[in-house]
Amino acid sequence: MRLTGTGHAGMRIDTAAGSILCDPWVNAAFFASWFPFPDNSGLDWERLGDVDFLYVSHLHRDHFDAAHLRRWVSKQATVLLPDYPTCELEDELRELGFTHFLHTRSNEPVALGDGLTIMIQALTSPTDGPVGDSALWVEHDGIRVLNQNDARPTDLAEFARLGHVHAHLLQFSGAIWYPMVYELPPATKAAHGRQKRARQIDRTIRYIDDLKASWVFPIAGPACFLDDELWAFNDLGDDPANIFLDQRAFVDHYHGRGRANAVILLPGSVAELADHGCDVTQPVDDVGAFFDHKEEHLRAYRERQRPAIAAAKASWRHPEVDVLGELAKRVEPLLGASTHLADRMGPVLLVLEDDRGEPVEHILVDAPAEQVRPHEGEEVRYRFTLRRALVEHLLHSGEVDWVNSLFLSCRFSARRYGPYNEAVFTFFKCLSEERLRHAEAWYADRAPVTEDITLDGWVVQRRCPHLSADLDRFAVIDGDVLTCQMHGWQFDLATGRCLTSGDHEIRAHRVETVGRRVG
Ligand code: FES
Repeated sequence: MRLTGTGHAGMRIDTAAGSILCDPWVNAAFFASWFPFPDNSGLDWERLGDVDFLYVSHLHRDHFDAAHLRRWVSKQATVLLPDYPTCELEDELRELGFTHFLHTRSNEPVALGDGLTIMIQALTSPTDGPVGDSALWVEHDGIRVLNQNDARPTDLAEFARLGHVHAHLLQFSGAIWYPMVYELPPATKAAHGRQKRARQIDRTIRYIDDLKASWVFPIAGPACFLDDELWAFNDLGDDPANIFLDQRAFVDHYHGRGRANAVILLPGSVAELADHGCDVTQPVDDVGAFFDHKEEHLRAYRERQRPAIAAAKASWRHPEVDVLGELAKRVEPLLGASTHLADRMGPVLLVLEDDRGEPVEHILVDAPAEQVRPHEGEEVRYRFTLRRALVEHLLHSGEVDWVNSLFLSCRFSARRYGPYNEAVFTFFKCLSEERLRHAEAWYADRAPVTEDITLDGWVVQRRCPHLSADLDRFAVIDGDVLTCQMHGWQFDLATGRCLTSGDHEIRAHRVETVGRRVG
């Protein structure tokens, strides 16, 4: 089996029984803020796009690049479709001209013929990707690959039971706006960044240790930021407070822990996988030297992309849009239809600025009152400050997912009053009836957790109150505080209180005897 890196989370998998192109991404995403790192635009996309199967893990724009899929990927390819609760991914691919779809069922292997078998695990909580994320397992001729990309399964048992995995490809770097956009004192923000970076690395290594694959490929990041306004987000000096660490930084850390099985997959890297080996051909003579000269690479890349960034910015303004009126028209019915999210999110303030950074409008999304109206000084849970042009564009284009557009762009600043509130971001990614219905139903259906485990002298519920990660694998306990390394939520074990978000509690009490696990 051959893996060819195509950049970020992308790869092409070639076997004698067929080829699969995964998550090809080339064009800037999220208001022209994210670009693939390293630049992958020079690959032979004509050849790479001539495939038997296409797999798009989810609809985040760094995985689903509509312009690229339309132009470069064969419409004869059969799309391997994850088992999602909404049909948005299929609808968007049909619009691009794809007509052959294989609807998979989560965790059920599918034989594609001539010994090629795949299995897709679909994650469907409202916080997984844009309402859905997935991982792809592939087997041919006794060689198995797990392309986990940025999916976060609660554990990897479903894949492990199918046999030893030879290549495990997974996310290691940051892909979020936290903490960079938060209005915090620099030292506090740096402390949050250090904590987040360390947690990302820790989570990645826990997944790696879970699966015990022969070879590990850190993929799905980091993106790079080529607009001058966002340039500072690039990790140019291996800054421990920067969440966008690159592949080399991760591999150095990982190998520093005594491992030696990580492979850097650059755009154009080719890895030939066999039962007892992995031959890698890199597209550069010296991978280390490439990373040594990362800043040079980014500066040249930035110059090449300046016209694309300028053109994107010029397309955002739609001054004719009545932002307050349109927002009220779209958001109020959704707030009225929501029980779980609207009840929990509290009031959110949008401060809209003109192109010079002057505030021009203060809009309150008053979730408890199911209203969108001018802000009159009321207390809020979140304040987002952003350019009016961005909101004009979101409303003009009918965007239903502000996470997959505005928030991931990092083109805003945020202030939070009180603990993190997941309902706010989930609501803003569900600005359509279909999505909101799914999210509300998902929260309503959550089964109670009954199993307990013993960790470091505490009996705690086995499943994390946030999204059910197995705390036997993902918990770290420091004193009375339990941190779930899946997303970093913290719980005070003495009171059960969630320190990260107000509305989740953990069941826990002390035990006399410290054991690893009780039934
Ligand atoms: S599952 Fe998200 S923090 Fe535990």
